[in-house]
Amino acid sequence: SNIILLGPPGAGKGTQARKLVEGRGMVQLSTGDMLREAKTSGTEMGKRVAEVMDRGELVTDEIVIGLIEEKLVAGGGSGFIFDGFPRTLPQADALGRLLARMGQKLDAVIEMRVDDAALVRRITGRFTCGQCGEVYHDETKPTQVEGTCDVCGSHDLKRRADDNEDSLKTRLMEYYKKTSPLIGYYYHAGDLFTIDGLAEIDAVAAAIAGILDQQH
Ligand code: AP5
Ligand code: ZN
Repeated sequence: SNIILLGPPGAGKGTQARKLVEGRGMVQLSTGDMLREAKTSGTEMGKRVAEVMDRGELVTDEIVIGLIEEKLVAGGGSGFIFDGFPRTLPQADALGRLLARMGQKLDAVIEMRVDDAALVRRITGRFTCGQCGEVYHDETKPTQVEGTCDVCGSHDLKRRADDNEDSLKTRLMEYYKKTSPLIGYYYHAGDLFTIDGLAEIDAVAAAIAGILDQQH
């Protein structure tokens, strides 16, 4: 199946996408990860988007659509998980066209609902492994041994430049203004499933599995 995980910053999109990659051999396409990679590798594009991202604003449709297009050409195992893409109506239109061109379609758009207060707690407690990308949280998902990644043993644990209160406020505004209209867009298309993103990580994973198992 090809699915979109739709939700505000901190809803748990990345956390659930990683579970689907492990459990079902799906391919995660996170535009946020791709952009951060471009940022650290110091490409022209990476330099151009760095400040925009750190402030919490969206980068241009042109750039992210280009990134997705490159990855779609490479093919997608047992399906693609779009994580953090699309985020605007033009991006949603572009994705529809790209999938159609490959003779594929979208199977489900999963909206993860989490209230703002919880998002702030999640974002301010988040850290990730710089080696394998595992996502942690100071309170809800600490590492077993302090300073060491459970998955790969790396000590390279870090926090994101945009995980501060100011940038988070901007990210939330961008979400409500530009991304939330996609809920109506996909509801209208009949692809929308809404789940409670406030539940525990495994309960959210079970809800997503339930939706995927309904698809064929
Ligand atoms: P992006 O990387 O996509 O960030 P985001 O949408 O802000 O989402 P996050 O990664 O912050 O949250 P998440 O939902 O993945 O949550 P996570 O699983 O980590 O985008 C970053 C920037 O890139 C954008 O601001 C923009 O500038 C640019 N960009 C990216 N895509 C773009 C696009 N398409 N167009 C334009 N610009 C684009 O979980 C968060 C925390 O909560 C973790 O600590 C986790 O352990 C914890 N947690 C997760 N689930 C639970 C749970 N169920 N219970 C308790 N804790 C939980
Ligand atoms: Zn790791």
